Amino acid sequence: MLSWEDYYKDEAPVKKEETKNPEPRVAEVTEAETIPQESQVQQEQVQSSDTDTLVTEDMSSEAMQDIENYTTMKEPTEAELEKVRERMASALEGRVQVGQKAMINSKADLNQLVPFKYKWAWEKYLDGTANHWMPQEINMTADIALWKSEDGLTEDERTIIKRSLGFFSTADSLVANNVVLAVYKHITNPECRQYLLRQAFEEAIHTHAYQYCVESLGMDEGEIFNMYREVPCVEAKAAWGLKYTQALEDPNFETGTPEKDKLFLSNLIAFYCVLEGMFFYCGFSQILSMGRRNKMTGVSEQFQYIMRDESMHVNFGIDVINSIINENPGLWDEEMKKRASDMIVEGTELEINYARDTMPRGVLGMNAKTMEEYLKYVCNRRLTQINLPEAYPGAENPFPWMSEIMDLRKEKNFFETRVIEYQVGGSLKFDD
Ligand SMILES: [Fe+2]
Ligand SMILES: [Fe+2]
Repeated sequence: MLSWEDYYKDEAPVKKEETKNPEPRVAEVTEAETIPQESQVQQEQVQSSDTDTLVTEDMSSEAMQDIENYTTMKEPTEAELEKVRERMASALEGRVQVGQKAMINSKADLNQLVPFKYKWAWEKYLDGTANHWMPQEINMTADIALWKSEDGLTEDERTIIKRSLGFFSTADSLVANNVVLAVYKHITNPECRQYLLRQAFEEAIHTHAYQYCVESLGMDEGEIFNMYREVPCVEAKAAWGLKYTQALEDPNFETGTPEKDKLFLSNLIAFYCVLEGMFFYCGFSQILSMGRRNKMTGVSEQFQYIMRDESMHVNFGIDVINSIINENPGLWDEEMKKRASDMIVEGTELEINYARDTMPRGVLGMNAKTMEEYLKYVCNRRLTQINLPEAYPGAENPFPWMSEIMDLRKEKNFFETRVIEYQVGGSLKFDD
């Protein structure tokens, strides 16, 4: 094991010369299975060995000792060398090959991150870390003043803010719980699990952001955090998502049969295509539209960063779903296709109801009718992303500015508004 002393020695220029070329090994899905370059010697030994005579027992401490001894043997006999070759071949057999990796039901060792099979998952993990942000870095001063003023916001605008915070504050917890308690266990791929860990942390940041908004604005926490139980259009969406987590919560649930694999696939479709891919879109559009009108700009900025994370979560989930389908085409039969399509359309209808409930009148340049058109457009997109036919042919996007906001670069305005000092339990200070 590397000691701190060794660590600092590694920082010295001489050592750096020795560790050139730090590029990680990357193996594409389509590549033939190869043994890493540095294992060329061992590779030759595997190829020249008679596999029937390979030692198949685990690499016990005795075996490790044999190999270790080899490095100190002065004049090993042929028998001793043969024994070491057998032990090393056995050790090599335990190394994970790309072809053994699979999205579900893989028996390959989950503790070995590389070689990568799904390079896109690793890249999404890197993109996620590059997009890191924290809620308390966003300036909430103008929002606090506007929220507390008598006539700064209409009643309809206040309803939208409260409903959005009410739904999202619970929905992100539902998503986080689903990632940690249901999805992570059954995804048998280390690079995708790495992204799931990042996603779980981002969901924690999102819940933190809603709590931060509620606290900054001095809202009634009990009212906001209980909306998923007390306001029917919010409750309907939370309950819809929850039932797909509960199906997998049984500690005895395991994938491995077509029926169970389909249940797991349904969970992924429910959460990535509907909960994160549909249920967030009405609230996001409403809050972002408010920000475009220079109202509640801090809350709106929080939502922009959340939405950027969410669009990556959705894309990751869709790649996972499509990989499972490609690797297990038997699961994607007519029954499963209909089930998936019905789920996405059902979710769209719940979101349209939410839009009608939160916008009884036109507000912020939008109304329930234009939102319905937008949600049907989003529904078509989700269906085609998993190769299903559109449910609402011809639906168009009435809010093209939503896509522009989603592509927001952090550098664009982030540092102009960030908080420079934050003290828990103390006063907030901003740099302007
Ligand atoms: Fe989230
Ligand atoms: Fe998410």
